Amino acid sequence: MDASFEKRLLERIKPLYQKGRDGDWDPVLRMVKLCKYLLEHENGNEDIVLLTAYLHDIGWTAVDFSDFNKATPKVKSNSSSLTLHMEQGAVIAGKILSDFEVDPDKIKEIQSIIKVHDLPETVFKMNDISATLVVEADRLDRYGKTGLARFKTMFGADKLKGVYWEEARQLRLDGLKDWFRTKTAIKLSQKLATEMGLFD
Ligand SMILES: [Fe+2]
Repeated sequence: MDASFEKRLLERIKPLYQKGRDGDWDPVLRMVKLCKYLLEHENGNEDIVLLTAYLHDIGWTAVDFSDFNKATPKVKSNSSSLTLHMEQGAVIAGKILSDFEVDPDKIKEIQSIIKVHDLPETVFKMNDISATLVVEADRLDRYGKTGLARFKTMFGADKLKGVYWEEARQLRLDGLKDWFRTKTAIKLSQKLATEMGLFD
């Protein structure tokens, strides 16, 4: 991706993200970095992957996410704001990318990924390596030391113990099987899971 384009895009979306959920901006930057790493080792269209990564969670800025924050880890995936943030995200991303005069076919593909980005099974069925890398990078950020820190910022330090954490921990253990498809992401997920003490 062209560096000046990337800079202009960042300037446009950073203030938007900062109005959304607490601590949502840094994960976006980490996810983009993870995508760049995956792209070094796996196929995938760089423009699609990186633009989708930058914009995937922009929908949180337009929805009330209190139900998502209140839900326990296992039922978060059923919260209505989760669905809404994907739908709204696709709409907002479409507007931004049109302003940046991105190719309409690319915009459509990006929107189709954003619409389902938190449903790994659905994404993997698309059989689109770019979409797969986006999901993998997003999920990788739940692991490692940064994954722990992000969890703390979003839900509170008290949620890192007891039943709540046990649910979250189990979700991540199951995720190692369910959220990664490429060799590169599988390898990295194992490394980060070890680093955060998931197997201890
Ligand atoms: Fe999301």
